[in-house]
Amino acid sequence: MADEANRAELLSLAEEVGEHLSYLRELGVDFLESAGTIDPDTTATQGDHRSAPAKSPAPDARRSAALQRNAEAEARGQRKPPADSPRAATAANHAPPPRRGEDEKTPPDALYQLDQTASTERAKMPTKRKPVRTPDPVPPPPQETLFGEITPKDELSLPREGETYEDIRKDIGECMRCPLCCEGRSKVVHSEGNPKARLMFVGEAPGADEDASGRPFVGRAGQLLNKIVEAIGMKREDVFIGNVNRCRPANNRTPTAAEAATCKPFLLREIALLRPDVIVVLGNTAMKNLLDTKEGITKLRGHFMDYKGIKVMPTFHPAYLLRDPSKKRETWEDMKKVREYLNKTKSEK
Ligand code: URA
Ligand code: URA
Repeated sequence: MADEANRAELLSLAEEVGEHLSYLRELGVDFLESAGTIDPDTTATQGDHRSAPAKSPAPDARRSAALQRNAEAEARGQRKPPADSPRAATAANHAPPPRRGEDEKTPPDALYQLDQTASTERAKMPTKRKPVRTPDPVPPPPQETLFGEITPKDELSLPREGETYEDIRKDIGECMRCPLCCEGRSKVVHSEGNPKARLMFVGEAPGADEDASGRPFVGRAGQLLNKIVEAIGMKREDVFIGNVNRCRPANNRTPTAAEAATCKPFLLREIALLRPDVIVVLGNTAMKNLLDTKEGITKLRGHFMDYKGIKVMPTFHPAYLLRDPSKKRETWEDMKKVREYLNKTKSEK
């Protein structure tokens, strides 16, 4: 029985190696074949079938040039990976080809836009998933945004002419771009609110209640945020609310700078669409991740920053106010400045 299973596994590995070779051939990399046959036994015992090509001679200039040309063309969208090649399922990533039995016809952006069936399957799995950490071979160039230059992780993070909020959500998809995809998140928590809001709030990342409901700021901190909004004579439905990171970190840990940088482009696209008059950033982490400041919230709160015509007011995070209610006074002072600015600009319009 064990022999049977081993044999099937070896056959499957040999097939994958064959797929690799045929794809490399399409790329114009033919020297691998002359390097002798690839022994599935050896590759299997190495535990990683991707190490097979390492038996071949060091990459020559022709191979590097061909790979580079194709990667660039793929990144520009001018060239699609061959439909029947393993890369067709993994787009511009260097992820391994699909194993037998897996869907090999998945579209090129499958890593970002997993289909409904796949997400249902994943929902059933209690195990942790692996994040897709492999960088694009040719990352998109940095883009100028409201908050300075960002280097998006992939083409889908880039703003597009005439896009809608829905387009941005679609690009995010069942996101696997950063490790937060895979440490217990149940829902990607998107921004919500009035698509014409003049006031926007930006938090850090969802907590347990947000993760369960798929909506930002609905837990205790959210209830307090609603009161803060009402305190300046507005309703939650009037404003727009989002987070720098859209997935809940395990045990509510602080998202890393890299995780924030991965998710931030989508928020910046929403800000570019909304163009609110004022953005209130909530707490140290959101402020540092959005504004790239070195100073802390205690120093910067209460002072408007001006970013390309949008006023940004940092204030304390409502979760912090729940822990230390004596700080509510400062946030109230900050919100009065926001109200004053909104009233002033309204009468000017
Ligand atoms: N804290 C945040 O920063 N964001 C939420 O959505 C909820 C709590
Ligand atoms: N520290 C934070 O992270 N946020 C606050 O709002 C205050 C202190």
